[in-house]
Amino acid sequence: MAKRLPFTILGVGHALPGRIMTNADFEKILDTSDEWITTRTGIRERRICAEDENTLTMALQASRAALTAAACQPEDLDLIILATCTPAYPIPATACFLQHQLGCRHIPAFDLSAACSGFIYAFSAAVGMMTVSPYKRVLIIGAETMSRVTDFQDRGTCILLGDGAGAAVLGPADDKVTGVYDLHLGADGGGAELITVPAGGSWLPTSTRTVDDRLHYLKMNGREVYKFAVTKMQEVIREAVQRARIKMDDLALVIPHQSNARIIESAVEKLGLPASKVAVNIDRYGNTSAASIPIALAEAVQDGRIHKGEWLLMAGFGGGLTWGTVLIRF
Ligand code: UT7
Repeated sequence: MAKRLPFTILGVGHALPGRIMTNADFEKILDTSDEWITTRTGIRERRICAEDENTLTMALQASRAALTAAACQPEDLDLIILATCTPAYPIPATACFLQHQLGCRHIPAFDLSAACSGFIYAFSAAVGMMTVSPYKRVLIIGAETMSRVTDFQDRGTCILLGDGAGAAVLGPADDKVTGVYDLHLGADGGGAELITVPAGGSWLPTSTRTVDDRLHYLKMNGREVYKFAVTKMQEVIREAVQRARIKMDDLALVIPHQSNARIIESAVEKLGLPASKVAVNIDRYGNTSAASIPIALAEAVQDGRIHKGEWLLMAGFGGGLTWGTVLIRF
């Protein structure tokens, strides 16, 4: 078995906007159907932020829930890493607002951009920093307001995306079993153009033309991303299990990024995993990018689907192209 790093999840929390947008709502504004969306993606509804909600408000709510679950005070935290591709402001990091609003000490706080793999990247960065520094308690968050970069005239992307946040407090394991057993991250910048928000950065700054051309919205080559994701998902899960020298059967729960139910079903089938061991909530929330894994994690803990000492594998992939896995004994 792989070497154990003595860090664990002390508490998790999540936050979702109250407003629900169903497939029937899209039928009213687009040439689409509930039948097409459900059969191609598995999505039935998603949550959409109200005007006064955003990545920061949801991150704050999810973080407070995670801190309560971890029986941890904001002043106990040593570091905050917030994964998002829809920050509250371009400058400064949303994590800094969060640090202040939570009432933390002047601890380091930064945003991390790895699209849908963001929570896995944040988890890995936190574990790395806890290994080489005195940081004991780290708050990691995946929070996204995808609706603010969604082109509601583009039926190929808008039906997929949703808003939400999930958070986890990481800290020292209090026994010799629980801990982090494998971390793996990867990226292929050759596929960077497959998912982009083209305008609003330094390459193509905001102008009336970029707004008129709808370039501040997310563009995706769905078919190519699908091909990448369907292969990558099962590959990274298989490799994580092999590196840790455990059996697929040993896994109590797998939490995949929720981008398309068909991608998850294909991986489950190829890996021979029972569906009961795979967390799926895409039907209710759509693709919430970096928030999808921590939301599913928080729900799984709430529903008693994972217990202390059991093997939990989280697998993300998405824009970048990026991917990554975290294998822990919970
Ligand atoms: O989280 C980041 C990772 N992202 C993903 O993993 C997303 C991966 N991609 C996908 O999940 C799928 O590619 C989509 C769900 C986005 C699209 O499904 P698809 O089966 O690949 O459809 P397609 O893009 O090949 O389009 C098939 C047809 C097209 O019509 P024509 O050209 O064949 O006449 C589209 O225009 O479906 C049409 N179409 C729609 N029809 C009704 C595309 N979107 C819609 C829609 N309603 N919402």
